[in-house]
Amino acid sequence: MHTQVAIIGAGPAGLLLSHLLHLQGIESVVIESRSRDDIEATIRAGVLEQGTMDILNESGVGERMRTIGALHHGVELSFDGKRHRIDLTELTGKAITVYPQHEVIKDLVAARLAAQGQILFEVSGVALHGVETDKPSVTFIHRGEEARIDADFIIGADGYHGVSRASMPGQEQRRDFQRIYPFGWFGILVESSPSSDELIYAQHDRGFALVSTRSPTVQRLYFQCDPKDHVDNWSDDRIWSELHARLENNDGWKVNEGRIFQKGIIAMRSFVSTPMQAGRLFLAGDSAHIVPPTGAKGMNLAVGDVKLLARGFEQFYKQGRDALLAGYTDDALRRIWRAEYFSWTMTRLLHTFADATPFEREMQRAELANIVSSRAMATALAENYVGDF
Ligand code: PHB
Repeated sequence: MHTQVAIIGAGPAGLLLSHLLHLQGIESVVIESRSRDDIEATIRAGVLEQGTMDILNESGVGERMRTIGALHHGVELSFDGKRHRIDLTELTGKAITVYPQHEVIKDLVAARLAAQGQILFEVSGVALHGVETDKPSVTFIHRGEEARIDADFIIGADGYHGVSRASMPGQEQRRDFQRIYPFGWFGILVESSPSSDELIYAQHDRGFALVSTRSPTVQRLYFQCDPKDHVDNWSDDRIWSELHARLENNDGWKVNEGRIFQKGIIAMRSFVSTPMQAGRLFLAGDSAHIVPPTGAKGMNLAVGDVKLLARGFEQFYKQGRDALLAGYTDDALRRIWRAEYFSWTMTRLLHTFADATPFEREMQRAELANIVSSRAMATALAENYVGDF
């Protein structure tokens, strides 16, 4: 099989890139280790920045997002027994949409298949070859047979655990930056109407908690936990009492309870690997960088990488120039480091660190008080949150 761009990974990065390339008349093939059902059902992130909404709309895959996504103009910060609203739209002119990542995936898979795009699911044994030549290829097993794609370029959009990052030539030049946090997030899906019209980020002595939604009948709730804890240690009653304790104040507002139909613990890390390109291999999304979910940036960063790559390939194939592709690592990293900074800031600001001194806890509370009392500080948070950087 031959194509122009071989894409490893059918997550938001790989699928969106394939879709945008198609709109420019550039061919690609996507390969994915999981099944279509699996990628369309796995619960991941949920917040789309304005820029992400814009590119989905402009490229013609925004219809379901506009219909079933929820447009949010503000978020709330809860601490010291009170909730405070950050008016994102008033402060930045922009908004966010809460629309689950697996719905974005469904929209992109549908668009690619409708355009006769090729996505090969359930492949295994993926290996990259000739990445330093201008004829790279990917080999893998598909439906029990060995297969091979020859391409002009390979995109590694196969996530943190994928093979692409480790297949980059020049591993001696590679630099990884990492921070692993001493806590995780316990996430649940609940059958009930939303407790709040807007997301609530709560800092509490017992730990962070977050109220989000998935639909008018499903809530997504999280609370800080020990990353080594196990879901079996958490009965529904124990979960609810923790959420009530961390989220509720004396104003009469309560978290809506309901049937918990999914529980899981996610680890929290910050990670950046550079460079993001070597020879004809480019990394996009989680294969090159991870943010803790506190800033809601993960999927948006993947989309940011893809926008740069789509422009780079357009320049390469239409004008025969590779300036944008050659600048990919530097261009992408500028945005990535800003998002890493914001995600780390939000994580540091809102979580309870077991080893924090009493002085450090007071600094955390003073910083929160500053944010909700200073328009300048609130604006900085809002700009970062909507992705205005
Ligand atoms: C989510 O709804 O899954 C979600 C929302 C906001 C975050 C992280 C996750 O910061």
